[in-house]
Amino acid sequence: MTIGIGVLVSGSGSNFEAIARAVQDGRIPEAEVRLVISNRPGVGALDRAKDLGVESLVLDPALFPDRKAYSMKIASEFRKKGVSLVCLAGFLLKVESGLIQQYPGRILNIHPSLLPKHAGRGMFGHRVHESVLGERETESGCTVHVVDEEYDHGPVLMQARVPVLPGDTPETLAARVLKEEHRIYPLVVGRLVEQIRKEGNTSGRSGRG
Ligand code: GRF
Repeated sequence: MTIGIGVLVSGSGSNFEAIARAVQDGRIPEAEVRLVISNRPGVGALDRAKDLGVESLVLDPALFPDRKAYSMKIASEFRKKGVSLVCLAGFLLKVESGLIQQYPGRILNIHPSLLPKHAGRGMFGHRVHESVLGERETESGCTVHVVDEEYDHGPVLMQARVPVLPGDTPETLAARVLKEEHRIYPLVVGRLVEQIRKEGNTSGRSGRG
């Protein structure tokens, strides 16, 4: 049984590419990245999707009456493609509870710090690494976690650590962390795909209806 994966992006999409390549070269067997949804047009992730032969869609939240309607549209597009696992890969909008209820325990996110540190509203991109350097941390890293209704919250599934080196800038630290992101995100996706297959419930919804 092939497990369908959906990815939500807002930017460059390098984590999406890491997951898609792991699927395509068989490191994540019997899975398929079926749809990438971006909230913005013209982003790098959409070019990567084209190059990787993955279908993509731009959904502009401004064209929906509210976030709930927007989330329901995302859920329905993923359902149409038989997606049973959703990966946030640099998706900058808060995930609304309606979508979480459609995919309980099956929405993952990656954050470029050792959660719970350097996280929360507004803490994305280089701001995270600026915060790490500002606090004079000696190490940083990245975290893959299950998404719940709070920013950068929810059970942690895997972390990787990197040292903060003398002379680091937000750019050099981000590059060191990103390399680890590309390593661990596909590992966690592979594990969850395996778990979904064992459970045999590809819908994502619990039996309680
Ligand atoms: C990554 O640093 C990720 O941890 C964060 O957003 C960034 C996305 O980068 N959530 P990319 O679009 O995957 O290249």
